[in-house]
Amino acid sequence: MKRVKIFADANLTVGDVDPNVYGSFIEHLGRAVYGGIYEPTHPTADKDGFRKDVLGLVKELNVPIVRYPGGNFVSGYDWRDGVGKNRPTRLDLAWHSTETNEFGTDEFMKWCRAAGVQPMMAVNMGTGTVENAARLVEYCNHAGGTTLSEYRRENGAKEPYNVRYWCIGNEMDGPWQIGHLSADEYGKKAVEAAKVMRWTNGEADSLPHGEELKLVVSGSSNPEMDTFPEWDRIVLEHTYPYVDYLSMHRYYEYKADRKRPLEDFLGSADDMNAFIGTLRATLQYVRAKHRSHRRVYLSFDEWNVWRQSAPRTEPIWKQAPHLLEDVYTFQDALVAAGMLNTLLNNADAVKIGCLAQLVNVIAPIMTENGGRAFRQTIFYPFAYLSREARGTTVRTFSESDTFESMYGTARTVNEAVNFDREKNTVVVSLVNYGQKAVDIELELRSFGALHAEQYVEMVNSNLFATNTFDCPDAVTPREKELPSVRGGSKIFLRLPAMSWSFLKCKVQ
Ligand code: AHR
Repeated sequence: MKRVKIFADANLTVGDVDPNVYGSFIEHLGRAVYGGIYEPTHPTADKDGFRKDVLGLVKELNVPIVRYPGGNFVSGYDWRDGVGKNRPTRLDLAWHSTETNEFGTDEFMKWCRAAGVQPMMAVNMGTGTVENAARLVEYCNHAGGTTLSEYRRENGAKEPYNVRYWCIGNEMDGPWQIGHLSADEYGKKAVEAAKVMRWTNGEADSLPHGEELKLVVSGSSNPEMDTFPEWDRIVLEHTYPYVDYLSMHRYYEYKADRKRPLEDFLGSADDMNAFIGTLRATLQYVRAKHRSHRRVYLSFDEWNVWRQSAPRTEPIWKQAPHLLEDVYTFQDALVAAGMLNTLLNNADAVKIGCLAQLVNVIAPIMTENGGRAFRQTIFYPFAYLSREARGTTVRTFSESDTFESMYGTARTVNEAVNFDREKNTVVVSLVNYGQKAVDIELELRSFGALHAEQYVEMVNSNLFATNTFDCPDAVTPREKELPSVRGGSKIFLRLPAMSWSFLKCKVQ
């Protein structure tokens, strides 16, 4: 059996992991809100109608920030419909559903508090105006004394929400987006929105200081867009001095009708890495053009596996229909684990990540209306890494084999190493995308003497195995016998074919 050497030295770092890289996303789409996080008639519902079983699972995932209310939904959404006593029922033209507006901004803020997460709001840049966007900032963040801030107080929130993270629209490069714009049109509109949102927030000029807003400008919806990466360059040339992050989105899918379906799917993590690489370079280019010393970072605020080619089975205009309720397989979890490794390995550039989405809609948590909830296969790598892979990402050098996919050459063994100096832990996440087991020689140098504290493995003989309501634990990680650490730095592991492994070591 071939042995793969992986080497990491504590002094050779990539960058600090921003905790927000473990964020997620709730959109008014299908049953993400209604029947997902909010179901007043559910047996576990609290006084605000929030499902406590779901809150428990969200806490287990250890998500620090949640993006809301869309997604495509936000580009036709009037936030005023979702506050106060009169809540009109509207047609949602993004998902062809009916939106009752029973749940809106104030409910989301309460839910965030209950879940212990920070809100990341998105404003409507499709049908919405710069004025609407600024007024939502006023509603959320202005202390009092104006009609809108007093309205929030009347609606129960005496103190301002002080929302810091704001997305200026969603996927504005997509023709499917309500109010889609060209890069030039959007770039100009985004600058005006950013300026006026900041002024509303009490920032004297357009540059950040103190309690400033963190603004995310819409980047490419995916690297297959004809406008990629010109969209990003043009939008950034307009907005660079005014924003903090460039948004990027990417979903991958297993397609059985491809020539090499498995390889193409397993190449996802490396393709995601290439996508980040292009936008990292675009940011550097525009920064130089602006003669700027400020860094704008990447917000990978939608990523996941998504069976986009699955047909819709629900009628249009239904309220909270079953949409995008992908049931994830074991191999989906392997791809999601590789994508997480990619985010970690780009910790210097990617400072926000949102697993899209959180509940029911392409999500790690599935619920029944009025009933049970279960953890999907993709739940596990996320939960382990969000709890433990913190601190700093350390660069790895690997002798892994490679394979060919539709995206080009990908690594068979895909790894990330993280060093948390506060907790004194080193965490290694390893995916073996190979069809054979592989022996790993892991050399973790300059961390201090290490001993293994936790070793977990996810493997399954059926790549298409799933968890279900009746069998919620069919695909779960299992604890393994701890490996010994030779000389405090060398560890030998055997990774089964098609597996994800998680190793936590403590510095003695
Ligand atoms: O997450 C589902 C959808 O995917 C979002 O609404 C949109 O932003 C993206 O295309």
